[in-house]
Amino acid sequence: MEKTILDIICDTPIVVGTATKHREDPLYSDTRRSNFNMYTHEWSLKWKHVSPKPSQVHINKDAQAIIDAINNDNKKFKGHCILWHNDLPDWFHALGVQEKQTAMLNHVKSMMQMFKGKVYKWDVVNEAIADSTNDLRPMWKEVGGIDFIDKVFRVAHEVDPECTLVYNDYACTKINNKSNAIFNMLKTLKERGCPIHEVGLQTHEDGACMRHMWMESMKQNIARFYSIGLTSTISELDIRCHTFAGSLDEKLEKQADVYYRFFKAALSDLRACNEITLWNFTGKYTWVYDFFKVEPMYCPLPWDNDIKPTASYQAIKRALQEVVDGLMG
Ligand code: G3I
Repeated sequence: MEKTILDIICDTPIVVGTATKHREDPLYSDTRRSNFNMYTHEWSLKWKHVSPKPSQVHINKDAQAIIDAINNDNKKFKGHCILWHNDLPDWFHALGVQEKQTAMLNHVKSMMQMFKGKVYKWDVVNEAIADSTNDLRPMWKEVGGIDFIDKVFRVAHEVDPECTLVYNDYACTKINNKSNAIFNMLKTLKERGCPIHEVGLQTHEDGACMRHMWMESMKQNIARFYSIGLTSTISELDIRCHTFAGSLDEKLEKQADVYYRFFKAALSDLRACNEITLWNFTGKYTWVYDFFKVEPMYCPLPWDNDIKPTASYQAIKRALQEVVDGLMG
C-alpha cells in the first residue's frame, strides 16, 4: 500500500494540515483523513458566521461538521480566524469606536473560551497590514492600532494560556516590504511582552516566482522571526502553476518541483517552522480558480479536480520523507 502523507509524518513533530469545508463527498473525507493530522475551518468559524446577531454565538452546520470530523478522525484543531477586516458581522459596521473595541474583545474572549483546551492554535489577528501601505488597515487604526492588537493577544492569552496565538497574513512569506512591516510590528509587540507566539505565512503563491532565491529568502524570513521569539507556520499554502512555460504536463511537473523544494525549505529548521497547512487540498474545491481567474486545468493543489493525487502529491511525500529521514539521523 502506498504511503500517505500521514504515514510519513506520524510520530514526528511535523504537522501537515488542511483548510476544509464540510462536503458530502466520501472520497474527499477519506483523502483528508488519511493524509492530514490537522484540520482548520476554511470559512465557518469567522465572526460573520458565528455571530450573525450581536452577542450571539452560532456554530453553523458546516462548522459543527468539521468539529465532528476533527474529533472522529482524531486530528489537531487549528482555529481560523478570530479578528479579520473581512467577514465581519453586518451589525459591526454601525458601531462607534468604543463599541467596536468592546465587541472585538468580547468576541476574542468568547471564541477562546468556547474552544479552550480543544484548539491548540488560533489565527487571532488576520491580515492587519495593508499591501498598498505596508501599514495597519483602517479598521485596526480606528480601534487603536498596535496598542489594541497588543490588548487582543493579552485577552486571548488570559483565557487560554496553553493556546498558541498567531498573527496571520499573506504576501509575506519571503523578505519584502510587507514582511518587513510585519516583522517590525511583531518585534515591537514582543518587546512589550505581548503574548504572541507565531507568525502565519499564508503562501498563496505563483509557482513560477518561487525559484532558488525565493526559497532562500523564505528561510531567512523564518529565521529572523525565530530570532525574536516567534515560530512560523505556513498557514494557507497553494501554488499556482498556470504561468510556468510549456505544456500542461510540463507546468505540472515544474509545480511538483516547487512543492518539493518548498516543503524542504520551509521545514529545514523544525524548531522555527514545523507546520504546513494547505488551503484545501484538491482543485475540486479550491478558491484559486475564481479569485485568480485561473483555468481549472491548472490545479494549484496536490490533488486534482477529481481528487486524484498529482505529481505534486508525490513530490510533497518525497520531501517529507527526506525531512523525516534527516530526523532519524
Ligand atoms: O456555502 C456557504 C453557505 O452555505 C452559507 O450560507 C453562506 C453564508 O454567507 O456562505 C457560503 O459559504 C461561502 C464559503 O466561502 C464556502 O464556499 C461564503 O459565502 C464565502 O464568503 C466563503 O469564502 C471564503 C473566504 O475566505 C471568506 O471567508 C473562502 O472559502 C476561503 O477560501 C477564504 O479564505 C481566506 C482566508 O480565510 C484568509 N486568507 C485568504 C483566504 C482566501 O481568501
